[in-house]
Amino acid sequence: MKRAVILINAYSQLKHSLNQSVRLKEELQKRGVKTEILHNDFFAAHTDGRGEIVNKLTGYDFCVYLDKDKYTSYLLEKAGMRLFNPHSAIEACDDKMTTFAILSQKGIPMPETLPGLLCYDPEMPVKKSALDIVEGTLGYPLVIKTCYGSLGAGVFKADCRAALEQKAEELKCLPHLFQKYIAASCGRDMRVIVIGGKCVAAMERKNKDDFRSNIELHGKGTKTDPPDEVKAMCIEAAKILGLDYCGIDVLFGEGGYLLCEVNSNAFFGGIESVTGIDVGGIYADYMYGKIYN
Ligand SMILES: Nc1ncnc2c1ncn2[C@@H]1O[C@H](COP(=O)(O)OP(=O)(O)O)[C@@H](O)[C@H]1O
Ligand SMILES: [Mg+2]
Repeated sequence: MKRAVILINAYSQLKHSLNQSVRLKEELQKRGVKTEILHNDFFAAHTDGRGEIVNKLTGYDFCVYLDKDKYTSYLLEKAGMRLFNPHSAIEACDDKMTTFAILSQKGIPMPETLPGLLCYDPEMPVKKSALDIVEGTLGYPLVIKTCYGSLGAGVFKADCRAALEQKAEELKCLPHLFQKYIAASCGRDMRVIVIGGKCVAAMERKNKDDFRSNIELHGKGTKTDPPDEVKAMCIEAAKILGLDYCGIDVLFGEGGYLLCEVNSNAFFGGIESVTGIDVGGIYADYMYGKIYN
């Protein structure tokens, strides 16, 4: 019998996250793959006292890994499980600065980005000399992001030195980055879904009330057919990062399109309803093909 497991975060109550797993389960079941959804609160994998891996996910042909716990994904893969997405791709996308670093020198246009200095002592004031370089390099307004944020929650705009100092002080002990603000893309971007090296769906997102276009912040999506250069950029980024599936955010820069972010766990519910494209079905077909054909 064909069997798959969908592993989701132990704590996640997010409606989108639960819907994603339910939709993928339905689509895999339709294709004859008996599929179980498991919350990862049972330690799917760990190292035993002899340095061996204890893998509790036995009897499955593959795992749709919808969590971002990179330790468990590492162990599961090492123990022989095929993960969608692979561990290294999940890890590369989880941290925005790591994504930019991996994609640099590959001909992928991205906004100019400086990694935030790491501070290990909350009592130390943020380095003013470092902020001089940040403002001198990027000008105002500029963008500050936590490296691990999502749904727009860790993305901020600083319009002046005081705002930069305040935000940098707040984030100094978290991994973060400073980025050129792409004014031409204010409240607007493109979300492109790439599955198995093909752009399968895309929407333009617009938010009239915020520079961030995330649907979760009331951005509105409309179906779009990205220009060939955007498709090529997204396909290339997914290939470099080793992703089976992803959602890529693309900014409209004055001089051309810029890659903003790569989401290895992009929710597809919103883009399915905006475009009418069966993203879950396409992903299930892709996984089925990889494992059984
Ligand atoms: N450098 C930037 N310039 C202008 N807008 C940006 C920039 N970076 C992000 N944004 C806007 O903020 C949104 C959220 O940023 P993103 O990096 O995708 O983080 P998240 O993981 O929270 O979605 C983007 O979809 C885009 O609309
Ligand atoms: Mg995003």
